[in-house]
Amino acid sequence: MNESTFPGTENEMDRLPERFSAPEQVQPISMPPSPTSTPGTSAPGTGPERPAQQPARALPDNYAEMPKPTAKLTAEDLAPVNDPNGPRHKIGPTGRPLPDLPEALPPTRTGPAQVIAMCNQKGGVGKTTTTINLGAAIAETGRKVLLIDFDPQGSASIGLGVQPHDLELSVYNLLMQRDITADEVIQPTRVENLDLLPANIDLSAAEVQLVQEVAREYTLQRVLDPIIPLYDVILIDCAPSLGLLTVNALTASNGIVVPLECEFFALRGLAMLTDTIAKVQDRLNPKLEIVGILGTMFDGRTTHAREVLDRVVQAFDERVFHTVIRRTVKFPETTVVGEPITTYAPSSSAATQYRDLAKEVLARCPAG
Ligand SMILES: Nc1ncnc2c1ncn2[C@@H]1O[C@H](COP(=O)(O)OP(=O)(O)OP(=O)(O)O)[C@@H](O)[C@H]1O
Ligand SMILES: [Mg+2]
Repeated sequence: MNESTFPGTENEMDRLPERFSAPEQVQPISMPPSPTSTPGTSAPGTGPERPAQQPARALPDNYAEMPKPTAKLTAEDLAPVNDPNGPRHKIGPTGRPLPDLPEALPPTRTGPAQVIAMCNQKGGVGKTTTTINLGAAIAETGRKVLLIDFDPQGSASIGLGVQPHDLELSVYNLLMQRDITADEVIQPTRVENLDLLPANIDLSAAEVQLVQEVAREYTLQRVLDPIIPLYDVILIDCAPSLGLLTVNALTASNGIVVPLECEFFALRGLAMLTDTIAKVQDRLNPKLEIVGILGTMFDGRTTHAREVLDRVVQAFDERVFHTVIRRTVKFPETTVVGEPITTYAPSSSAATQYRDLAKEVLARCPAG
């Protein structure tokens, strides 16, 4: 996908009331030069001369004054961090001291739900994997969790063993037909406490049809209102776009989790994403907050992945989750079997990472 164009985004935002003044454009976060290159020079035939390395510009504006990650980690430091049997190291994979995360106590009552959107317009960064596995890990704590598949690809539905083309009713019907109620569409999953509001390709029509609706950005919030008291946490798996469906998801949410693949190009779309979040906060949903930024597909053996994570911590500081999700073939395997990692490989380190993430998310959203 061409990262400079996001279908629907500009139109959606341009149609909104003009109370918002766009923040200063943020440059993509730049990577340090490789040790072999000399700043300010370029080899013949490799394109125009590049300026000497600029300090990284990123959100928030005062990031230059923020404390920089201090520890340089070795692969050895990183390896056991999320290993349940290994020693807990003081410095985590994000280069900051690891906090002792409290175990999530069972809830004393159900609802009202915290609504959290998994959002990043970049494709393939781990949104769906995080929705399913974070949802399953929170469900293990005894909380009632609803996953909303809000992507016409239907990946979250497939990942939980539901075939999108077999669906009689999906989130599309809930959005577009006033006589359909959520309980007609929501399905239980094989995981205790975990329900699914499934989606299929029909949802792509909603993106077009909703444009005609009055208060179109609030459509998802309107249909979710009656079920908020029935769940503790609702997770929305967004599509890789910043179009009207994603704006609906952000308008209906209290929080956002931004999964970010730990590779350089993953950083490029972050400024546009934070800009969209700021616009939604200002014009549609002032209670929206970034719950956290999650490093995914992390390979601690490469300095590249660690440098990318360092940069994200410099820019977003405490909003970056201490937990990172490491790259492992177990996640593609879970899609094939149609179940979360917490039931497919319950004692794997991958399952432990999502349980750690669940603790962090619940600590940041205490009402959940
Ligand atoms: N930690 C990981 N290690 C290895 N593979 C992973 C990991 N997380 C996700 N994957 C794989 O990467 C692919 C993309 O992940 P996923 O579908 O979760 O991303 P997405 O952001 O939802 O993508 P899309 O933008 O298309 O919706 C999938 O095949 C998934 O199994
Ligand atoms: Mg997805």
